Amino acid sequence: MDRKEALDSVRANVENENLVKHMLATEAIMRTLARHFGEDEEEWGLAGLLHDIDVELTDGDMSSHSRLGADLARELGASESMAHAILAHNEQHGVPLETKLDKALFCTDPLTGLIVAAALVRPDKKLAGLEVSSIKKRFKEKSFAAGASREQIARCVDIGLELDEFIGVGLEAMKGIAEDLGL
Ligand SMILES: [Fe+2]
Repeated sequence: MDRKEALDSVRANVENENLVKHMLATEAIMRTLARHFGEDEEEWGLAGLLHDIDVELTDGDMSSHSRLGADLARELGASESMAHAILAHNEQHGVPLETKLDKALFCTDPLTGLIVAAALVRPDKKLAGLEVSSIKKRFKEKSFAAGASREQIARCVDIGLELDEFIGVGLEAMKGIAEDLGL
């Protein structure tokens, strides 16, 4: 599978443009993390790009979300490690986070929402002027972007990153695709 096939499949299965953007943001962060760790950038990036491909197909059914996604990814030719990361990112299955890829996808998933929300409350609604310190401040406000699980984001320590460092990586990665994100 190449990136175009993966993105085509995402677009074929996901109508909500914000959800597509969430997957693009996750991909961008996963690519940056893979480079940081000397891991396989393509594998990590595509796991991020595909991880929520089944959200509309499973229509809120969390017991099938990410099971179907992992199957779809396999059909597209994803490696078993990518499929495992996609499956495990939904905690409800109780599938343990085993690899660094599993753990990276898990903590990256909610980070994108926190960063998007932090950009949208700025007067210019752009990522460009956003700084790690203001995201960190938002992180501590429990009611701000409450859907972005702080506990899950903080699991970045499992891949050896301090919270500030992780937010910094996420922010730079998303700034790099700001135009695609409309931010
Ligand atoms: Fe997600």
